[in-house]
Amino acid sequence: MAGKISGRVLLVVDGAAVLVHTLEFLRQARQHGLKVRVFPTASALLFQSITAWAAYSGQPCRDFESLTEEDLQAADVRLAAPASGRLLQLLLQNDQTASCPWLLAPALLPEDKPEEMQQLFAPLLQEHHKLLLPSSDDVSDLGAMGKLSLASPGRCLEAILAELIPQELAGVRVLLTVGPTIEDIDPVRFISNRSTGRMGQALALAAARRGALVTMIHGPLADPVADHPNIRPLAVRSAQEMYDATLAEIGHTQVAILCAAVADFTPNTYAEEKIKKQGAEGMRLLLRRTPDILATIGQQEKRPFLVGFAAESNDLELNARHKLQSKHCDILCANDIREPGCGFAVRTNRITMFFPDGEKEELPMLSKDEAAERICAQIARRWEK
Ligand code: C5P
Repeated sequence: MAGKISGRVLLVVDGAAVLVHTLEFLRQARQHGLKVRVFPTASALLFQSITAWAAYSGQPCRDFESLTEEDLQAADVRLAAPASGRLLQLLLQNDQTASCPWLLAPALLPEDKPEEMQQLFAPLLQEHHKLLLPSSDDVSDLGAMGKLSLASPGRCLEAILAELIPQELAGVRVLLTVGPTIEDIDPVRFISNRSTGRMGQALALAAARRGALVTMIHGPLADPVADHPNIRPLAVRSAQEMYDATLAEIGHTQVAILCAAVADFTPNTYAEEKIKKQGAEGMRLLLRRTPDILATIGQQEKRPFLVGFAAESNDLELNARHKLQSKHCDILCANDIREPGCGFAVRTNRITMFFPDGEKEELPMLSKDEAAERICAQIARRWEK
């Protein structure tokens, strides 16, 4: 979840899908600090009362029939989700509602084809309205009432955030390496580290929410893969796989954020059969260095804007400044892993950003989501298009 975002959302809801969709949407929206006022249609009120909507949203609630010009103007974003075809027609043919921009999430029956619906609504959609169509996974099972397709609560929320968050990185092609790598010893054993991928996933979301087109090359993650239409995840396992995938993408990357905890060493050879312990007093495992992805990109003549990370246990500033220079980074984000609440396997971090002009920005202890936003703000400020 991102830091709190202030925004007033006007939400018109319609039909049976409110039971599964709207309650989850309200939960997520409230987590982000959004104020959502719900205006249920008569059909939505068959499933939940005004009192229930007021309780779920934490805001006063009135029915859709009583929606006024003042309500429309008081909102930063207007969303109709779920919206039946009838409700969409009503919104777009009414002078008062049609003059405001809307995010419109139609509820489709299994037999409706998204492309046909898009064509159907095209004439009704003025420039400032946006249609949120469901993906193939967005099917809500309404039990006895059948199935409906509808852009997920998360998708609706991201569409709202895109309206509220300045699109400072709109269209910028960002590449991220995220999480740990796994270096296999034999079919059952491996070498890895404590990285959860949370800092990297938070950065992917923060960049995507600012309009960036993010390719996220990641090792195994502790949390589900960040779900955002601007994020393209590419799963890899070993340091070598991460290196290969990154170099294949780097040519069309404008900003590279190398956040992964890449294993520094990998076994010299991989044992095809499980290594037996019988009779052995101990064993010697020979390791060799893995390729340094960040250093390799830093050496390229035409390189993207480069953001590196450094987890240090001593002489933070000295080591960070050395890494900034030796790996040719434009920003180096460093943290002291000895400090409680910092670094691996926790949800907070205290990062200091170092820049080639000798400046630095010391962030306080923040959630990784908030730290990611501050890092993206620096990227947007310092990256020259
Ligand atoms: O030298 P050190 O490993 O501390 O540098 C950390 C930075 O380098 C991080 O940004 C990390 O993602 C990157 N790195 C890399 N490939 C490696 C090792 C580190 O890209 N093999």
